[in-house]
Amino acid sequence: MSGDSLRSFVHALPKVELHVHLVGSASVDTVLALARRHPAAGVPTDRAELERFYAFRDFDHFLRVYWAVQSMLTDRHDIRLLVTGLAAELARQNVRYAEVTVTPYNHLLDGMAGEELLSGLTEGRALAAVEHGVDLAWCFDIPGEKGVRAGRETLLFALRERPEGLVAFGLGGPEVGVGRAMFEPFFTAAREAGLHSVPHAGETTGPATVWAALHDLGAERIGHGTSATADPALLAYLAEHRIPLEVCPTSNVATRQVPSIAAHPVRRMLDHGVVVTLNTDDPPMFGATLEGEYLAVATELGLGRAELAGLAANAVRASFLGEERKTALLREIEAVAAAR
Ligand code: HPA
Ligand code: ZN
Repeated sequence: MSGDSLRSFVHALPKVELHVHLVGSASVDTVLALARRHPAAGVPTDRAELERFYAFRDFDHFLRVYWAVQSMLTDRHDIRLLVTGLAAELARQNVRYAEVTVTPYNHLLDGMAGEELLSGLTEGRALAAVEHGVDLAWCFDIPGEKGVRAGRETLLFALRERPEGLVAFGLGGPEVGVGRAMFEPFFTAAREAGLHSVPHAGETTGPATVWAALHDLGAERIGHGTSATADPALLAYLAEHRIPLEVCPTSNVATRQVPSIAAHPVRRMLDHGVVVTLNTDDPPMFGATLEGEYLAVATELGLGRAELAGLAANAVRASFLGEERKTALLREIEAVAAAR
């Protein structure tokens, strides 16, 4: 397949994104504009400098940059701008639906009022549907480094406010020194209230963290799960129980968890029958796009058209969309795969 025909095939697949952080989806232009309004945040106002700012030395450095961008968001207008900007970008790539991670506790600590955050999300989500034809759902996640207090506050905020489109409960931030088990009560309560459990695990630590996410947090999907390939019993468990991994190859290279896409364990995950989905995590920060992730695994890991269509279908099945919508999207994917 030529590069152009591969590109048009990937574009034609109706896609679903399951792992993208709202703050990390802010476009370069938006971040530059915010940086000019908030010089104290220390975020560059110049394009070339911002590019250097986004060259991450390691995962902790990435998080510090991410928090600096987050600190510039002050009100509903900022949040709505991020949501509609993300939706426009998703529509451009023929992404029909996304589950977007939002970290309310961090915004509240940064001084944003809860109602500003919620209004921005709700207004942005309505505009995303009407103006861009993209459906958005929310995952509210705990910033793990802030401990059980963040767990409790995130749970209370999620259950008290329960905005339209809230479908999942997550856990992000650093994994080193932040055990998953301490968040068990909050995940139990969130699941009892009908939210799905989608913690990050195995991105920056070993397979024990993935086991903890499964056993302690009742994970229905795993954010990243990169290190799962170090444990054959875990791979077998994930495959048998059909627990999808939200794999973010470019992110893992950018935060230096994996040396290159060619060395990414996604091929091994697939070989073991694990349900793999492709995602971008924090796209402009990593120079990633969802189409780019599909193209990268095709060219760097040798995945063919049928496998790419399979990955798109995995994301639909692993999503929290209703059955009717899933069936319609799966039919569309089949038609695209059959037509070429
Ligand atoms: N992992 C944990 N926390 C995050 C990430 C991630 O990939 N992106 C933004 N916050
Ligand atoms: Zn993430």
